[in-house]
Amino acid sequence: EKGGFDWFMRKEIYEQPRAVADTLLGRHTEDGSLTLDEIRIPEAELRTIQKIIIIAAGTSFYAGMVAKYAIEHWCRIPCEVELASEFRYRDPIVGPTTMVVAISQSGETADTLMAIRHAREQHARVLAICNTNGSTIPRESDAVIYTHAGPEIGVASTKGFTTQLAACYLLGLYLAQVKNTMFGDEIASVMKELEGIPPLMQQVLDDSQVVVDLAARLIDQPSVLFLGRHVGYPVALEGALKLKEIAYLHAEGFAAGELKHGPIAIIEEGMPVFVVVPPRGRDQLHEKVISNIQEVRARGARPIVLAEQDDTFVEQFASTVIRLPKVSTILQPLVAIIPLQIFACELATQLGHDVDQPRNLAKSVTVE
Ligand code: M6R
Repeated sequence: EKGGFDWFMRKEIYEQPRAVADTLLGRHTEDGSLTLDEIRIPEAELRTIQKIIIIAAGTSFYAGMVAKYAIEHWCRIPCEVELASEFRYRDPIVGPTTMVVAISQSGETADTLMAIRHAREQHARVLAICNTNGSTIPRESDAVIYTHAGPEIGVASTKGFTTQLAACYLLGLYLAQVKNTMFGDEIASVMKELEGIPPLMQQVLDDSQVVVDLAARLIDQPSVLFLGRHVGYPVALEGALKLKEIAYLHAEGFAAGELKHGPIAIIEEGMPVFVVVPPRGRDQLHEKVISNIQEVRARGARPIVLAEQDDTFVEQFASTVIRLPKVSTILQPLVAIIPLQIFACELATQLGHDVDQPRNLAKSVTVE
């Protein structure tokens, strides 16, 4: 049932192009506009939404962090992201014009469930992004976008994450359409790019030998860091979480711009530092990340750089380059996370751990 793979996790990593394609399937009406049929909130009501609060835990929380960038950029609606376990203990400001988006692969996470119950008591509209039909969180929500990842068995979430990203992008574009914050042809062109991403994810999988070799070289490392900016920041956090969960390694993700505010002090000779480099665009994002790479390199770290295909400029600063296909910045997490998932899976395998059933962890956390 593992389809020839050694672990469910590895199988699920390789299923991602299909899972993301299925999640994006059938979202157009005949006139080309976007439709999300599980949204049982009338459009007129959606137009009254003044604030979005995304709540989730673990990997789903990192998908929520990416969603914030997309939703604010496309829909111009203020959007917060909060850990489900923190949300209801701080007396959050929530009301009828707030939309709470709960992201949960299992649909059974107690922290997230309690948070949406609290939100509903405050009369917020609740939308769930979920992978499990008929589970508790979607049942208790006003609307649902189902991800079509298929069952995720590995405790470490992989296709759960990328399909959540796809669903979040769909939600952002749909709200932009409803709120008229983007032109129809702009939405269509982002949608077209999104629908073209699964083959690019496949390309990253096909080119992953460099990551496998890297894991063999880094097997004795006590600690690994991950840096990113903008949507690369949640990718860095997710890359670190994967390593902690299955390789039991000390791993931390940082916002690259925060380095000089403290974390740079822990850099040591030879320390592996993964850096997610944004595509070269018109803004300064790319340039900024390059200088972050130089900063860690100057202190003896080994930068392992994830950069787009024809970004030859990064080579001079990197000890290893992992190539990513060319996509727009906001969509980059869909391809950038894959090498980090493979790295964690490979390292954990080489360390002899049970990748699918890591110690101390359960697939769904049904207690608070
Ligand atoms: O089922 P959920 O998406 O609500 O689960 C949330 C977290 O427990 C989950 O993402 C956890 O962090 C995973 N083990 C990550 O790989």
